[in-house]
Amino acid sequence: MNNTLVFIAVLAMMAMIGLNHLSAMITQKLGSIRDPLQIWNALQATGVPIRIRAWIFSSIVANANPYAQSINFRITELRKGTACGVMKETKQISNPFECVHAAALITFGEMVGELALLSLLGKNDRAVLTNINTEYVKVSRGLLTASSIVAPIKDREATEIVSCVLIKNASFETVSKLTLTWKVDLQSA
Ligand SMILES: *[C@@H]1O[C@H](CO)[C@@H](O)[C@H](O)[C@H]1NC(C)=O
Repeated sequence: MNNTLVFIAVLAMMAMIGLNHLSAMITQKLGSIRDPLQIWNALQATGVPIRIRAWIFSSIVANANPYAQSINFRITELRKGTACGVMKETKQISNPFECVHAAALITFGEMVGELALLSLLGKNDRAVLTNINTEYVKVSRGLLTASSIVAPIKDREATEIVSCVLIKNASFETVSKLTLTWKVDLQSA
């Protein structure tokens, strides 16, 4: 069947049973979101406009990671070793000083950092987050973007990987920096 037809069928199903149920189903079918890059690439292959792809992918991520449901985000880019996303400031995630709450920034940054790392891991590799360090450089307001670039893993014996996530505001000012430490168990290539 033509990919566009499949997509239209998927949209109709979404309307019928609701997006949440559908993405829960997809997530379940895929076991877990251990290989987000594969899902991203599969969506890309459908030729659906980027905005809709980003929306579908982000709902799948939100289903796999319930904490992510507390923020209004979209994953905008995913490649081997690279992930980017945007988050809109909303009333729910703002603190009384009308800037984005520290915990919302951690949720957002950790999610993007995890996607970047997972995109480099094989099916049998494991990664567990052991530390998050968040530096609040500037006050965060408005539309924020997070990006994480993880270098290719050369040393398969490594037991720890440290990755970084930068969160910038709409004027490209870095507002937060996250340093994530992962305990990894990598299968030899
Ligand atoms: C980005 O952050 C800088 C530094 O805090 C601030 O001066 C600027 O107004 C911010 N831009 C936006 C669009 O929020």
